[in-house]
Amino acid sequence: MQQVRNVKAMQRWALGMKKNGTTVALVPTMGYLHPGHTSLIQRARRKVGNEGKVVVSIYVNPTQFGPNEDFGAYPRDLKRDLDICRKEGVDVVFLPDDASMYPGKDSGHFSTYVEESQLSQSMEGGTRPTHFKGVTTIVTKLFMLTLPEFAVFGAKDYQQSAIIRRMTKDLNLPVRIIVAPTVREPDGLAMSSRNAYLTPEQRAQATILIDILKAAKRKVQASSSQTGLKTVTLKKQLEQAIQRCPLARLDYIAFFDPDTLDPLSTVRQGSHMALAVYFGTTRLIDNIRL
Ligand code: PAF
Repeated sequence: MQQVRNVKAMQRWALGMKKNGTTVALVPTMGYLHPGHTSLIQRARRKVGNEGKVVVSIYVNPTQFGPNEDFGAYPRDLKRDLDICRKEGVDVVFLPDDASMYPGKDSGHFSTYVEESQLSQSMEGGTRPTHFKGVTTIVTKLFMLTLPEFAVFGAKDYQQSAIIRRMTKDLNLPVRIIVAPTVREPDGLAMSSRNAYLTPEQRAQATILIDILKAAKRKVQASSSQTGLKTVTLKKQLEQAIQRCPLARLDYIAFFDPDTLDPLSTVRQGSHMALAVYFGTTRLIDNIRL
């Protein structure tokens, strides 16, 4: 397994792969890998086969964190991540640094960003207004540096994958976006590097996210497919259930069209739901197709 830290070396490698017709799949990550990530790596391998190459990027991207968010505290364990990548048969781990990803940023001489302006306004974008600008910028840069035919993202970040799909289409980027299913703990909590922040008491209550999603799905499935369910009513019931969970503080519950992310006043089977819940300062997200 090769480790590449230099952006020029990464691009040279990627151009070499293009030239000799080798298919590349990229799995962009911020490290602290867990079974959710390994499922993305395995999906990438299935896409390119044994003749293709799987690249995993590990980079905690500062521009997708707001000023009061957890950039400094974001969990990091490179040695463990490299062991996982080796075991998964990854070909290249790309480990860029801030100076090469954002050249001139410290002296105020980095000024080009990629911004999606519709899908990124609601939900995560409402609470974290600069987050998606950081994500779309870094993902574009990773695409330019690794030149993948496929890039694999997790469905837990549903809005992120919708925005990346839209960006790829809008900018005619020659990358096929694959979205792999959320991997869950045995009790249903979606795997996330941020779960490491939870105290044992918070961890025990964090199953409220999947409980609420499943409760909403049950209610929608029991409703008439003609009339559906009024979003305001359903939301109120779910909010009350979260209020009964003492350590949980709701950020948002959203019901939306799965393709356009447009908010819905009536939900039916096939509509999508996402939520974000705080436990102390830790913010967890999850989503479900209803
Ligand atoms: O989903 C993530 O881990 C990050 O947002 C990504 C796509 C690696 C960009 O930094």
